[in-house]
Amino acid sequence: MASVASSPPLDQIIFGNCLEKLKLLPDSSVDLIFTSPPYADNRRKTYNGTPIKDYVKWFLPISQELFRVLKPQGSFVLNIKERAVNGERQTYVLRLILEMREQQKWLWTEEYIWHKKNSYPGKWPNRFRDAWERCLHFTKNKKFNMYQEEVMVPMGKWAEKRLSKLSTEDQTRHESKVSSGLGRNVSNWVGREKAYPTNVLYLPTECSNKNHSAAFPVDLPLWFIRLFTQENDVVLDPFMGSGTTAIACLQTNRHFLGVELKEEYYRLACEAIAKYRETYSLPLSAVPHPALNGQTLTNGVYPSKLERIRDANDTKHSRA
Ligand SMILES: C[S@@+](CC[C@H](N)C(=O)[O-])C[C@H]1O[C@@H](n2cnc3c(N)ncnc32)[C@H](O)[C@@H]1O
Repeated sequence: MASVASSPPLDQIIFGNCLEKLKLLPDSSVDLIFTSPPYADNRRKTYNGTPIKDYVKWFLPISQELFRVLKPQGSFVLNIKERAVNGERQTYVLRLILEMREQQKWLWTEEYIWHKKNSYPGKWPNRFRDAWERCLHFTKNKKFNMYQEEVMVPMGKWAEKRLSKLSTEDQTRHESKVSSGLGRNVSNWVGREKAYPTNVLYLPTECSNKNHSAAFPVDLPLWFIRLFTQENDVVLDPFMGSGTTAIACLQTNRHFLGVELKEEYYRLACEAIAKYRETYSLPLSAVPHPALNGQTLTNGVYPSKLERIRDANDTKHSRA
């Protein structure tokens, strides 16, 4: 068995089962884990899934490894949604949260909602169209890295009207009526152009990669990467799929690291990364990692593709 490396392999996608491959990574070496695992066996026809009854048992050893590799001030964001079966929402996500808290000491710090603003209409006898997914935010500690200014949003039109006439109450700190210890002073926002966002993200489901049936839009990992990491930090996606999280890292100058089980998606991710690097003239330098023992392809680039890109670069340069 390959030994645990002293530093994580950076900017690579590892081909294989994340439960096994995560064991190759050192403790406390990752700043953010952002991922979307199979939602039980929703898409068993396209990629492996786990039946609902076994889901929690399947995921817990993986979340245990994630706890180990995450830095003490890091965050784990789990994009997931439970299925409805026989007219009833299933409870495996809720059970997973409970087990992660109780068995593994994860803190369930927050729940963000991804509101899919363009999900197409439909008619069901017992519910309306499902237009949101959970992004569960887990941390190891109450204090964690969070760069809130990076995701501020324009104040919006409401501010002009609301802030033009302030009541007496608006001009002093107004304590929450539910004794949460939280309060607000509306007058603090007069004259500001930006405000902090809510915990609901309004993003379309559209993504540039149509070859993966469950790819999320790049703006989803991007938002959390900006919120929880800084440049050169390390972001792990153990269910990398078509490489969306890696692309978000390349766009924001973070290091990525991913695992993907299915060769077809692994290739897709490697090619998306190579294409991005080629388009933006990023270096293709290969840094094979000793702990991976030749199991991965250099720098997330599939060799045949790498050779093709190098050939193309050579031709371009010899023409110039
Ligand atoms: C919901 S998809 C992720 C899609 C990805 N976020 C994207 O934008 O393309 C889940 C992915 O996990 C992969 N997968 C399933 N079980 C896995 C495992 N044990 N280890 C690594 N990858 C796995 C599937 O092949 C699938 O591509």
